[in-house]
Amino acid sequence: MTKKMSPQYHMDLEAKHGAHNYHPLPVVLSKGRGAKVWDVEGKEYYDFLSAYSAVNQGHCHPKIVAAMEEQVNRIALTSRAFHNDQMGEFCKFMTDYFGYDKVLPMNTGAEADETALKLARKWGYEVKGIPENKAKIIVCEENFHGRTLAMVSFSTDPEAYGNYGPFLPGVVKIPYDDLDALEKTLDEIGEETCGFLLEPIQGERGVYVPHDGYLKGAYDLCKKHNVLFIADEVQTGLARTGKLLACDHEGVRPDILTLGKALSGGMLPASAVLADDEIMLTIKPGQHGSTFGGYPVACRVAMAALTVLKEENLAEESERKGKIFRDYLKNLKSENILIVRGKGLLNAAVIKEKENKAGKHIEAWDLCLMMADHGVLAKPTHGDIIRFAPPLVITDEELMDALKKIELAVADYDNA
Ligand SMILES: Cc1ncc(COP(=O)(O)O)c(C=O)c1O
Repeated sequence: MTKKMSPQYHMDLEAKHGAHNYHPLPVVLSKGRGAKVWDVEGKEYYDFLSAYSAVNQGHCHPKIVAAMEEQVNRIALTSRAFHNDQMGEFCKFMTDYFGYDKVLPMNTGAEADETALKLARKWGYEVKGIPENKAKIIVCEENFHGRTLAMVSFSTDPEAYGNYGPFLPGVVKIPYDDLDALEKTLDEIGEETCGFLLEPIQGERGVYVPHDGYLKGAYDLCKKHNVLFIADEVQTGLARTGKLLACDHEGVRPDILTLGKALSGGMLPASAVLADDEIMLTIKPGQHGSTFGGYPVACRVAMAALTVLKEENLAEESERKGKIFRDYLKNLKSENILIVRGKGLLNAAVIKEKENKAGKHIEAWDLCLMMADHGVLAKPTHGDIIRFAPPLVITDEELMDALKKIELAVADYDNA
């Protein structure tokens, strides 16, 4: 193997010239198809991260690739200074698909959430009648909504917000999965509150699933206080948890819905905010936007990616395969797997830290390295948790094969 092809060459190059804002697993990928990826040496892996649930439809889905190729060869970018022949089609498609009056396209998940916050504030001042500059937003502890300054102002994770202050004012943080805390806070500041923002399952926290009834209870409290219920479904949306949206598990229709990641099937950054006219039309021309938001390629790709979700019944597949996954992992009965939890194919395992026979401390990261050796890629979150989120197109045979490999890695960890 020439030096230029070796994984080390690529990792060194990145470490020398790239910012050190990530700590990737030491694998260098160069190809992906469906649920599998290959590294620069040709080693095959199952992808159990799916780019943080952006690749729900599988790597390089042929229908999404075809839509993208066709569009980039015609016109890629117009900006919103002019109309283009994809934007209107996309808006109609999105609003029919999700059942809202309007959609506002952006690029990243953080931008979609930022847009939701701006919309909630505008609505708060212009519709609800909150006095100028007094609007509050309620968010949940342990959340993850992205990396912009507004989003890290929401964060309770020192890793995410440390030394980035001063932070956005008007943010009130309450415990997640706690209806009493929400009720008490709304009783105190409901009149000045424009929105309550939450993830239906806290993904980055380690797939923390709230108790049944939490979403519906929170929604009802928001209605009582005329506060917008804003669901960040950037990670949980688009069939990942066994329904199109995680809020569908409780029959809740958010007032503002944010989507990203799998909206493009992992092809390009595409995000969207959905809401009805009373909220969306508070933003007027010139008051918000993005050069690439809703550009023709993203519109085409998103329509293809959402069509694939329905054509391939990926929500149902996610629900069915998720049960197989959790049952298998629970049946391993390893003393080092403390908890297995999740919904659909968004799952996580809490891993016991331990000392190996050589007296070295090992944890979830080490189990991820062992899984990679056996051909399964996943990434720890918060040190002791591993998230398992394969592309939803993984076949039953592939899933069983991957589970056997995970079992071998868990045995290595148990015996280490
Ligand atoms: C729930 C949630 N919201 C927002 C984001 C941010 O998305 P992006 O990285 O595209 O900005 C993420 C990313 O992981 C997420 O999980």
